[in-house]
Parts: sequence; structure tokens; C-alpha cells
Amino acid sequence: MNEKRTIDRRGFLGFMTWAIGGIISAGFGIPAIAYIIGPAARKEEEQNWIRLGSVSKVELGTPTLFKTEIERQTGWITNKEELSFYVFTENGRDFVALSNICTHLGCRVRWIADQGQFFCPCHNAAFAKNGEVISGPPPRPLDQYPVKEEDGQLFVLGGG
Ligand code: FES
Repeated sequence: MNEKRTIDRRGFLGFMTWAIGGIISAGFGIPAIAYIIGPAARKEEEQNWIRLGSVSKVELGTPTLFKTEIERQTGWITNKEELSFYVFTENGRDFVALSNICTHLGCRVRWIADQGQFFCPCHNAAFAKNGEVISGPPPRPLDQYPVKEEDGQLFVLGGG
């Protein structure tokens, strides 16, 4: 017995409508999803350990300023960016890395040793050694970054 399957014209057109609709949806949908999640994925990739320098530079109990330069690739353009972090330790093993960018309007803070606090000259703000706001308009503490020591070198996880 030889059974022939036949598709009527209405069924064929219905199938083709769904197939073409699916192809068009995929054509628009996949790039749209990549556009939405792409920056987040890229940001994750850009998070690298940045080498600051020798751990021996940090005095016990005193925030020490480290400056470093990184390159950022934006499309075809490569920019150099200078980053600065204060690093301190109380025991020589556990390190804290703080941004030196004030959380108010982005001025650079500096460590005032005889007062034992960070000072922002733009609007007279003061931050404690751990970055907490003591006085002034900053809405939150100084940004803190994960830090590690390897082979006598300090690294911070940053770049974002
Ligand atoms: S920018 Fe630092 S207090 Fe305003």
C-alpha cells in the first residue's frame, strides 16, 4: 500500500508564514539581545587585575598612593587612563585599596597624615582611613576595590 501524503495549499501557506516569521524574528531578535547583554559581558571581560607595584612601598597603618596607567580599547580607539589608589594595611597581610576619587563631584582626595584622614579640597570633605565619610557633602564612602598580593606585588581588581 502506497500512501501519499498531501499538503493542501492553505496548510503550506500557513507553514511558510510561520517559517518566514521565525527567520525575520531571529534576524532582528538575536542582534537586539546581543546589543542589550553585550556591554555587560564586555564589562565583565574588562575587569582585570591591575598591577600597582611593590608591596614593600606600603607602610603599616599609612595609606600609600599608587598610580598606574591602563589602556582601554573603545572600538578602534585606544586610550590611556591614569588610575590612582590608596592602599593600606594594619598587619602587612590584609590590604585595603580605596579610590582617590571623591564620591561627591569627583575631585581627588589626599591623605593628611597628621590628621589621620583623607581630605577633599573641593568642598572640604573628610574621609576616615577606611573611606567612611567623616564630614562634608559626599553621599557615600570612597570606593573600595578588591586587592591581592602576589610575589611581592599588589594588584587591584578594577578598570570599571
Ligand atoms: S568633590 Fe569632594 S567634597 Fe565635593
